[in-house]
Amino acid sequence: MKLVTVLTLGAAVLATSVAVAQPTGLPGSINDYWSWARLNIDRFADNFSGAHPQPKDVYINLDPADFVNDDGTMKLPFPDGTVVIKERNDADELLVDRLYVMEKASGIWSYSFFDRQSTTAFGGQELGIENFCSSCHQQAADDDFVFTRFETR
Ligand code: HEC
Repeated sequence: MKLVTVLTLGAAVLATSVAVAQPTGLPGSINDYWSWARLNIDRFADNFSGAHPQPKDVYINLDPADFVNDDGTMKLPFPDGTVVIKERNDADELLVDRLYVMEKASGIWSYSFFDRQSTTAFGGQELGIENFCSSCHQQAADDDFVFTRFETR
């Protein structure tokens, strides 16, 4: 009985001391984006001439049950509070080097991006609503300005 208690205590101490290091410089609302649902299944790795070259994944802070219809299409428009993040990877360094962020409030998307500054820090730039991001994303206006589709799995 004593041994069980010691083991249980040990496991509890271990569990509390294993914390995932969070990078600094990201808003609290997105610093766990890697645990969100991913729209794509396999990492996009072949669109190097696109607007956002380099391998990438796209994350959304919604539960697929809430935004994906039975036929796999997405329920549009996205609700206020939706955040979509494109994570860009530096294939040489094997590091996430930039996050492109779209966040919806009062029915309108605002744009920002965050660049890696060091192994533990990102630096960000809020670009607001009207900018070069939004002008290009106009091309996806029929899909609530989001290009990437949810890939059914
Ligand atoms: C020249 C066009 C263009 C510009 C400029 C652009 N994007 Fe995109 N963006 C795209 C395309 C196309 C995709 C779809 C995925 C891909 O091909 O990379 C995309 C994908 C995204 C996504 C994932 C959701 C989606 O729409 O698929 C986010 C988030 C995003 N962009 C944010 C930004 C931000 C922030 C900026 C400005 C700093 C920006 N984009 C500038 C064309 C553009």
